[in-house]
Amino acid sequence: MINRQKAVLLALAMLTGLVAAPPPLSPTAMVASRDGKSLWIACATSNEVVEFQIETGKIVHRVALPGAPSGLAQSQDGARLYVTLPASVSQVAVVDTKDARVIDKLTAGHTSAAPVLSLDGKLLYVANRFNNDISVLELSSRRELRRIAVEREPVAAAITRDGRRLLVANHLPAGRADAAYVAATISVLDLVAGKQERTLRLPNGAGSVMDVRLSPDGRYAAVAHVLSRHQLPTTQLERGWMNTNGFTLIDVQAMAVINTFLLDGPLDGAANPWAIAWTEDSSKLIVTHAGAHEVSITDIPALLTKYARIAPQATPGTTAEAVSVSETRAEVSNDLSFLTGLRQTIPLGESDRGPRSVAVVGGRIYAANYFSDTLAVFEMAAMQNQPQSVALGPKPQPGLIRQGEEHFHDASLCMQHWQSCATCHPGNARVDGFNWDLLNDGIGNPKNTKNMLLSHKTPPAMSLGVRETAETAVRSGFLHIQYTRPPGSVTAAVDAYLNSLQPVPSPLLVNGELSAAAKRGREIYESKAVGCAVCHPAGLFTNMQPYDVGTASRGDKADEKFDTPTLVEVWRTAPYLHDGSAVTMRDVLTVRNRKDRHGKTSQLTPRQLDDLIAYILSL
Ligand code: HEC
Ligand code: HEC
Repeated sequence: MINRQKAVLLALAMLTGLVAAPPPLSPTAMVASRDGKSLWIACATSNEVVEFQIETGKIVHRVALPGAPSGLAQSQDGARLYVTLPASVSQVAVVDTKDARVIDKLTAGHTSAAPVLSLDGKLLYVANRFNNDISVLELSSRRELRRIAVEREPVAAAITRDGRRLLVANHLPAGRADAAYVAATISVLDLVAGKQERTLRLPNGAGSVMDVRLSPDGRYAAVAHVLSRHQLPTTQLERGWMNTNGFTLIDVQAMAVINTFLLDGPLDGAANPWAIAWTEDSSKLIVTHAGAHEVSITDIPALLTKYARIAPQATPGTTAEAVSVSETRAEVSNDLSFLTGLRQTIPLGESDRGPRSVAVVGGRIYAANYFSDTLAVFEMAAMQNQPQSVALGPKPQPGLIRQGEEHFHDASLCMQHWQSCATCHPGNARVDGFNWDLLNDGIGNPKNTKNMLLSHKTPPAMSLGVRETAETAVRSGFLHIQYTRPPGSVTAAVDAYLNSLQPVPSPLLVNGELSAAAKRGREIYESKAVGCAVCHPAGLFTNMQPYDVGTASRGDKADEKFDTPTLVEVWRTAPYLHDGSAVTMRDVLTVRNRKDRHGKTSQLTPRQLDDLIAYILSL
């Protein structure tokens, strides 16, 4: 009775505006319970895990979490959930599924995600995105046994069926952006030896890697990612000229990449591949496309049969059998028609926005939609039917910032849905690690993608300052990169979103403070003799003036002046300089500063240089 009174009062208070509407849920990760009767859904903005009962279509339990969840793992017996809660020092909440409550908390690294249990259930592997490593947590002792280094920004992981290896998806490429080959990798960890065994190179242009999942039969791993044509000038969008979207298939036995397959159609992009699920019989691969608001289903045995018939290399003097447009296997990752007839695309309805996780249970596919707080549900046996949309909570009433976040991730604001702004600016409007030859400053002078943190506070925009403000850059981004002209309400919301971004604390900080080395480095940075603070003064870390600091490269005018960039968050935005030619901060200050034109650094001892670097990477 009291509860009902309370509910009525709360509803009245909400109507009269006394109490704000409840926060949206923002489903971000999902697992089916072991009995197949419910879905456990991690909600990133209501800070909870909810149990959605399939039979009744209702949420039957809610577990409040001490932070925003990023990933979920479930014990073999279904009694426990392990939920990563990203922060500078992340926690892993242990949830008792029967009592629906948090019973314990473990500690992991910086911005943790992708929890995976060892086969015996004794260890939990957790990806620490901004430490670039994997924590090995022992559940009985609640201790971290070790860290295993990977490449860059691990965001997803999958364990092999023998339990010996962990495949880790590195979100971004790690090298120079002006190289002939630029791509993210999959790290293969030897769990017995406790170290990285090798890296699998994805094809040139592979980036924004979001998920890796093993087929239930253990034979294949699929990796969802963007495939960027970063070496072409951005003159058009047609036929995936800028960005394509697909998955890479890995042969687990051979631990080798088979190839990358594009999920786009020739005239319709499948922007922002996000999450992967396999059907129980390993025959179908399901991918959510968060930007294009659709789900694709690929017939893997049929794909492998077709692929096997394509010649590994061209044989001169013979005519290839007309199996596909691709004559050789090398062409397949460029072939927008390869999956024709093998892949079905299910567009979600208007009320389902931003599918970011997916599960298959009892012949049905469930896609959880981040921006609409809904589940899109469809029967595999009746695919021609429109998916059913099930609300997980009240319809979200997004404020301006949240609307902007949604538009930024929305490929329906791009001609033919090839990409969203987040395709080149993933990780909440940060960088993709690629160079792009945008046409706003001429052609033949590619620029490294910029972080948009502080863009609105540090005009002008773009390396050459060709846009007076970030507001102008946002509007020209839609017009010249996405080929659409959205209404002013959309671009104003995108401005509000970008303007609201907060810096993520550097992983080099110690308890939120500069380390001893970084403090020494700050002295060097501020000193007149070195001179960094003249152009990058503390605060915004830019004086917003253009200079020629001797960094012009092949495509640039010899004495080109570049807008001084902010140094806040440079720890996460490698490679550096307008042309992405410096992989490390040391490169910026040494090989790319031979004549001391970019601050005076040549007189620094190796130890002083280390300290200076420690400071800059702490900002
Ligand atoms: C094809 C990749 C790509 C896409 C898609 C893209 N951008 Fe960019 N963006 C870039 C690159 C590269 C730069 C840096 C260019 C330079 O420095 O001259 C940039 C820079 C910017 C900047 C300026 C940042 C600064 O501080 O100088 C803004 C603002 C921006 N983009 C907004 C957007 C918006 C909004 C969208 C979606 C409508 C978008 N971008 C889509 C590649 C892209
Ligand atoms: C005369 C002004 C000036 C001085 C002095 C200066 N910088 Fe810069 N800095 C710039 C400009 C301009 C750029 C952009 C160059 C480019 O993109 O090619 C830049 C770029 C950078 C970058 C690359 C940032 C990125 O996101 O790619 C770093 C890091 C940096 N500076 C650090 C320093 C440090 C450390 C010092 C002192 C040793 C220093 N700068 C001194 C003007 C200056």
